[in-house]
Amino acid sequence: MKHLTASAVLVAAVLTGGSVAAEPQAEVLHWWTSGGEAKSVALLQEEFAGRGGTWIDMPVAGGGGDAAMTALRARVLARNPPTAVQLKGPAIQEWYEEGALADISGVAEEQHWADVLPESIAAHMKCDGHWCAAPVNVHRVDFIWANAAILEQNGIKMPTTWEEFNAAAEKLKAAGVTPLAHGGQAWQDATVFETVVLGIGGSAFYRKALVDLDPETLTSDTMKAVFDEMRILRGFVDSNFSGRDWNLATAMVMNGEAAFQIMGDWAKGEFLAAGKKPGKDFLCAPTPGQGFLYNVDSFAIFNVEGEDKKQGQNLLAELIVGPSFQETFNLNKGSIPVRTDVSLDKFDMCAHLSAGDMAAAAKSGSLLPSYAHGMALRGAQAGAITDVVTAHFNSDMTSEDAVKMLAEAIANSM
Ligand code: BGC
Repeated sequence: MKHLTASAVLVAAVLTGGSVAAEPQAEVLHWWTSGGEAKSVALLQEEFAGRGGTWIDMPVAGGGGDAAMTALRARVLARNPPTAVQLKGPAIQEWYEEGALADISGVAEEQHWADVLPESIAAHMKCDGHWCAAPVNVHRVDFIWANAAILEQNGIKMPTTWEEFNAAAEKLKAAGVTPLAHGGQAWQDATVFETVVLGIGGSAFYRKALVDLDPETLTSDTMKAVFDEMRILRGFVDSNFSGRDWNLATAMVMNGEAAFQIMGDWAKGEFLAAGKKPGKDFLCAPTPGQGFLYNVDSFAIFNVEGEDKKQGQNLLAELIVGPSFQETFNLNKGSIPVRTDVSLDKFDMCAHLSAGDMAAAAKSGSLLPSYAHGMALRGAQAGAITDVVTAHFNSDMTSEDAVKMLAEAIANSM
């Protein structure tokens, strides 16, 4: 059947005296399967099809992308990589070192990416000086979301310190409300943990602990205080939290089954997809503390054979960084555009908060890569930390034992 179709095309081309032009094709591996995520990625599929491309979707469900990375490894081992893969930060470099990534400098230069992307983010997209990935957005991880009506009914304001958060949560608990919607999956534990590291330790502490992996910082009293707070937070989640997907936790806040969720602003994509309004139905604020934890989604472009696929890669890269897609995608996804020249006029208060805080954090040196979302560390080190965070959260391990385990895990992962 395939052969027949191909030869039919060939015959038609010969008869019309034309040549067989390759049509852009892309197989795209991603983990955008929740309501808000699926809506956002569908926009890219539409733009791609609108330009004559054929999109082969390879969604691998699982927040944070762990399952997607397992699927990617299998495909590369089978010497059949997808054309483009949702990948982030140091993982891009890791795949480049495996010899798996293509050079998309042609598109990047033609589209002047260097003039419209922040330098620090552009650096993540380059492999030995050439472009190998296309950035989509800037997600902020250190966000806290709340059900506006629940807070009002209970006389609670968005907390600005962890003490305030704990006091608000105790009050809610006494009133019979689940204070914290959480999904007990390792990456979600890690997401909460890094916001507590930033909040309790501050930005210099975060950098020393989760970027530089400084052993003294990892075992410090401040890190013990971070684990103490994690233990307190554990007391604020409901008994069914284990294994729950992040978007179901967001739905609990949305439906009034819980008051707060600590989650990156992809949670806003869920609220918006359900027709909820920021400031009215739900509230957003930075998690207690100063700083900004960034998480940049990007697509790494893999080495593939075939003119159609190569054209597909170029088209995909062009669309992803293009100004119109940057606006519509990010309006749906909950993030802000990565391009510096896209107007935020159509964006809501949470996006403005994010953009303002990001600019301020860049000036004060507190713009920090998220470890939990693969921006700060290589896989082995990030995984070592997350294992300890999850083991602590799901047991009665003391904070003293947790910091010891943390330092050991890091030492063993090097
Ligand atoms: C990604 C987001 C995604 C979230 C939940 C994060 O690591 O950066 O784009 O929405 O995981 O799946």
